[in-house]
Amino acid sequence: MNSSSGNFSNIKILATLIFVIAVSLLVDSCVHEPFIDPFALNNGEPTTPGCVSNGLVCFESSILPIFNSSCAIPGCHNSKSHKEGYTLDNYNNIIRKGISPGNSSNSKLYKVLFETGESQMPPGAPLSKAQKDSIAAWINQVQKNTVNCNCSCDTTAFTYTAIIQPIIANQCVGCHKPSSLGGNIDLSTYSLVKAQVSNGKLIGSITHAVGYSPMPQGSKLSDCQITQIKNWISAGAANN
Ligand code: HEC
Repeated sequence: MNSSSGNFSNIKILATLIFVIAVSLLVDSCVHEPFIDPFALNNGEPTTPGCVSNGLVCFESSILPIFNSSCAIPGCHNSKSHKEGYTLDNYNNIIRKGISPGNSSNSKLYKVLFETGESQMPPGAPLSKAQKDSIAAWINQVQKNTVNCNCSCDTTAFTYTAIIQPIIANQCVGCHKPSSLGGNIDLSTYSLVKAQVSNGKLIGSITHAVGYSPMPQGSKLSDCQITQIKNWISAGAANN
């Protein structure tokens, strides 16, 4: 073995290491909020609307809906616009870029959620703490593609605050908020949601009834979630 080429590759490794450390320090300096450790905060379970199956955050029910409704929207990170090279519309595309496996605090996709000003993602509409916690927990568990999870869902539980609002926040508000008014509909407050209950459009759209645009775009809520919303509406759609 030629010792001079051995030394040279050692120097290359060292230089690469220094470069990586310098870059990660630079990137870290953009963070404005301390990172939360979702496991420490909530006994290892992401907060609502998180679904955990066999100890893993369910990608299909907890993570994909956040990306679909808040990131993969026209003009942002859908397959057409893929801003900054990020397409965030399905599992393979989401894990392609900006994730440091098992390390949310080193993952650009998570860190941008805490930015302020122009770099904030989603722009002008920060995710809820529960959504951020779910994404952190999913990355910390090495971002598994968990699907068909047996999420616990109780059709007899349907208060607005604990059940309905988190579903809407996770699956709808990204496309139905003042800065992004899909179909000119805003679902970001109780009274605005109630208006879509009263005109029949909410139930028509989530049940994919004929004559309504099926919602959420490109997917469907679980049967249990649809039943929870139906039960809530039958009971008067209160702000409870
Ligand atoms: C990816 C973006 C996106 C998501 C996510 C989304 N919507 Fe929509 N929604 C739209 C757009 C765009 C329109 C208007 C165009 C259309 O009707 O397809 C719309 C239309 C609607 C309408 C009017 C339907 C009609 O027939 O008049 C309702 C009600 C609605 N959405 C509710 C919801 C609810 C409830 C959710 C969550 C369960 C949701 N949306 C999730 C983009 C979205």
